[in-house]
Amino acid sequence: MQHTDKGMKPNRILVTCAKGITPYLKAELLQLGFPVLSETTAGIATEGTLDDTLRLNLLLRTAHRVLILVKDFTADDAETLYREVEKIPWENYIDMNGYICVTSSVDNPVIRDSRYANVKCKDAIVDRIRERHGRRPDSGPDQDKTVVNLYWKQSNCSIYFDTTGEPLSRRGYRKIPMAAPMQETLAAAVIMAAGWNGAGHFINPMCGSGTLAIEAALKGLESAPGLLRNNFGFMHLKGFDKSRWDDLRAQAKKGAKKTMRYRIIASDINRESVNAARKNAATAGVDHLIEFAVCDFSETSVPDGGGIVMLNPEYGERMGQIRELENVYKGIGDFFKQKCRGYTGYIFTGNLDLAKRVGLKAKRRIPFYNGSIECRLLEFELYEGSRKKRKTEQGGSSPDPV
Ligand SMILES: C[S@@+](CC[C@H](N)C(=O)[O-])C[C@H]1O[C@@H](n2cnc3c(N)ncnc32)[C@H](O)[C@@H]1O
Repeated sequence: MQHTDKGMKPNRILVTCAKGITPYLKAELLQLGFPVLSETTAGIATEGTLDDTLRLNLLLRTAHRVLILVKDFTADDAETLYREVEKIPWENYIDMNGYICVTSSVDNPVIRDSRYANVKCKDAIVDRIRERHGRRPDSGPDQDKTVVNLYWKQSNCSIYFDTTGEPLSRRGYRKIPMAAPMQETLAAAVIMAAGWNGAGHFINPMCGSGTLAIEAALKGLESAPGLLRNNFGFMHLKGFDKSRWDDLRAQAKKGAKKTMRYRIIASDINRESVNAARKNAATAGVDHLIEFAVCDFSETSVPDGGGIVMLNPEYGERMGQIRELENVYKGIGDFFKQKCRGYTGYIFTGNLDLAKRVGLKAKRRIPFYNGSIECRLLEFELYEGSRKKRKTEQGGSSPDPV
């Protein structure tokens, strides 16, 4: 595995993401100039050096982990796995006084419990280091230091360094999550899907812990999400170039805007949620860019000038009662029609039956997953003067609901 770019052969880099996020991750990778070698529902293979993984960890908004290949080999049983892993010069990468965690994805007929493969892999690493240095690194489940990932499908084994450690979705700003918070990386992908880039207001009623508004502020400023974290897996590999990391951080800070032309407004009926969202925004360093209010969604201020209005209402899977929510969704439709003209409205929901209550025809229904729940981001064009009214005035029929 190569540390720098200097004329060295690139390694395979696997960037993972939550199911369904791949199109947004792909767009980010291409924009950063990385090739897309292959893709699955939850990851994209690209290539680069260890140095590239620093940039990816710093800049990607929708990724979960950045893995860099150490070695590919074939193994049909745990003993072969041990022997092959032991051949890797781990002492070049891992400090004998360090700490390692082995994670894995195993689909092999002879390994019934992936934990056994993890232990074999970990034993091979620590045995080799102890043999050479007389001392072995500690090991355990914590992913905040060196993380080695084993991918073993049938006979094909790949060993990666997980250069991320704790997943990138844990940006570090959400100290108070409140109920049913959206994962930060999912919120970033939803904002990308809506095409919001800071040109127009971002109105977020039902803000909960503030994830959408905070991610919008980071996106609007073009601020690198990795600036918010001070620990990544790559920092626990020997040869980590701290001055290079500091340079990348400084460049990213320099590239970020200081102010935004448009407003971000976040509201929630629950005062505790708004307090939490405000604190989370302060931790993210964007509280000065978000106007918070405690109010019913329908009372949220929607300034002239257009932009997007995005709501993530409860959808009855994890909280809330469906019957009560029917009225809430109907109310969102009324709010869109009465107060949000000239905007594009978005509802992120896992309940399409409830979404029908909105009573407006969705222009787009963009698929997502929130954990295992299939969701949609519904887009509504909220014409100035309301399309429904215009159609009625023209003698046309009302639009079909969702
Ligand atoms: C699913 S949560 C939103 C989670 C949010 N996206 C996050 O990442 O934390 C829905 C939110 O809607 C709020 N809410 C429910 N009914 C409301 C109403 N009538 N007006 C305003 N907010 C409401 C709840 O307090 C809750 O915070």
